[in-house]
Amino acid sequence: MTLRYRKILLGVTGSIAAYKACELVRLLVQDGAEVQVVMSPAAEQFVGAMTFEALSRKPVRTALFDREVEMAMSHIELARWADAVVIAPASANCLARLAMGLADDLLTTLCLATRAPVVIAPAMNTAMWENPATQAHVHALVERGVQVVSPAVGEQACGETGPGRLPDPEYLRAVIEDLGTDRALQGIHAIVTAGPTREPIDPARFISNFSTGRMGCALADALLERGARVTLIHGPIDIPPSSDADCVAVTTAAEMLEETLKRSEDCQLLVANAAVADWRPCAPTDRKTKKAQEVRTLELEPTPDILATLGQQASRPYLVGFAAETEDLEENARAKLRAKNVDLMVANRIGPNHGFGDAETTLEVVDADSVTRLGPDSKNTLARQLVDHITARLSPASSVVDFLHAARRTTHSG
Ligand code: C5P
Repeated sequence: MTLRYRKILLGVTGSIAAYKACELVRLLVQDGAEVQVVMSPAAEQFVGAMTFEALSRKPVRTALFDREVEMAMSHIELARWADAVVIAPASANCLARLAMGLADDLLTTLCLATRAPVVIAPAMNTAMWENPATQAHVHALVERGVQVVSPAVGEQACGETGPGRLPDPEYLRAVIEDLGTDRALQGIHAIVTAGPTREPIDPARFISNFSTGRMGCALADALLERGARVTLIHGPIDIPPSSDADCVAVTTAAEMLEETLKRSEDCQLLVANAAVADWRPCAPTDRKTKKAQEVRTLELEPTPDILATLGQQASRPYLVGFAAETEDLEENARAKLRAKNVDLMVANRIGPNHGFGDAETTLEVVDADSVTRLGPDSKNTLARQLVDHITARLSPASSVVDFLHAARRTTHSG
């Protein structure tokens, strides 16, 4: 499981335990999450906003009506931005206000406006926690689907001993990591190919393409989030690959084919996202060709097609291919779907300054008789949507794992 690219809105309210939220921010950021801290006015009595700003590398939001920040990202946009809203520590006052559905400050308004899962970790004096009023508020929130992390038992800052302590930041980090995750791909081994390949001309030169590997890495992360075991077989890429995937670095198409075939036996899903070079020099030289040498024609031969090779196997994993196209996306993708005998083809439009790198993009997911358009959105969001789409296609029932293992034993007709 990974927190990479998760957008966490962390609410901090007025409790002595607010200092523990600093460590929680540090752990989340360390794991690659984006954290936006929202402090209640009372929280500022306990910890300075600057501490959170330094740790989260983002300005802390405090006020509902701050025209300047509202212009940059309104509270509604902020509520939509969050993949999860976490309040740690949540004071007794905060619980009561949430239970009432109040919206008279930024944090309570965000909790009403978000559709993301909400987790609260109460922290307060034991008597306040055990008070029937507080318990009724907790009950009401749980009924509405809010996840409440039970306070830890122990000695409190006020001298009393009992329930009311904020659990350790490490524990809270683990709760957030598991949040809202549908681990429908648990037990599945997925191979993702990513990035470009390089086909040598001589020791100094090669043929390649503009692929950065971003989409492939985002897909590996999205599959990991769904509980799959992921092997990421990647060419030279611009970003560090997910640390939770089993990563195999290769250079050429031939190496990518070899490493994929080696592992394809015990794999149930192959997502071929790599922009494999289509041609390679027939006879790469051991010595560097001199610039002064007469310009010669470079003789090329096709590289082995990894996806099509797997498409020919009698027993093969569920196959998802990508088609980078400049025009007629659906038709071209469907032609490749048939030619390579794969289950899904994902077409993305490329062009000058389009389709590669960080920019938002759109995808057309094509099977034998339908097309689904995703985006425009970031590659991370599209990767999650695509993995959801694949998961739903594999089996509408919950027993995706059984289905996949059965699918592995049969030949797909296309
Ligand atoms: O035919 P085209 O290269 O457009 O097909 C793209 C799809 O096929 C991608 O999924 C890519 O990863 C895969 N492919 C491959 N081996 C090749 C060329 C493409 O696996 N040599």
